[in-house]
Amino acid sequence: MSIPRELDERGRALVAGVWAFRARSEREAAARFGRLGRQLEAEDAAAVVVAMAQRAADDERRHVEICAELAARYGHPGGAVEEVAVGEIGPRGVGARERLLYEVVAFCAVTESINAALMTVSLVQATEPAVRAAVREILRDEVTHARLGWAHLSAERARGGGAGLAEGLPAMLAGTVREELFAPTDGEAVDPRLAGHGELPRALRVEVFVQTLEAVVFPGLEAHGVDASPGRAWLARASTALH
Ligand SMILES: [Fe+2]
Ligand SMILES: [Fe+2]
Repeated sequence: MSIPRELDERGRALVAGVWAFRARSEREAAARFGRLGRQLEAEDAAAVVVAMAQRAADDERRHVEICAELAARYGHPGGAVEEVAVGEIGPRGVGARERLLYEVVAFCAVTESINAALMTVSLVQATEPAVRAAVREILRDEVTHARLGWAHLSAERARGGGAGLAEGLPAMLAGTVREELFAPTDGEAVDPRLAGHGELPRALRVEVFVQTLEAVVFPGLEAHGVDASPGRAWLARASTALH
């Protein structure tokens, strides 16, 4: 396997670290979708949604391999990516069904929409062929994982669910920011060539995050009758700190 020569040793190590970090995030996503699939089935979610979650768990396991392979290509020394356990994130004190809906909205409708937007921008900027192939494949899948979130939200709203989602939005979005924006290279990813290898500058990631919330997530929530104004107010406060 050839090591991309365009970057110096430090640049390669940085890119290797980014893809290794992503491999771990994909492992977490695989574990989460495995659990969500079982919970959705137990809560009698729509069969199509249960099937999408099961398929998503398979997709994420494939993403682990894709990301780990790229990390190794850039010189990351680590071996297999360890299994992880991922806890539930929904608010306590509500029913199991509402708690599950919160987590599905957070991880699919919100996080996967942001992931898909980041991958779309990454694909435009990536120059290394192996990175382009990886980003294209991951992007295709993350788009379907976002759809899972909207499909489940739609079904639950039709059954009268989701009443507590609006007030939970600030906490939900704050959790997403930690995941998506504070990747390990913050403050270091200033070499513009890194984008050719899949690492976008932080300022661009922040811009994509804000635009995706404003153009996709908030309108999507509102289309399902969820008041997004607590989320919009959170973003107005947070964007000062993010920039
Ligand atoms: Fe993934
Ligand atoms: Fe995904």
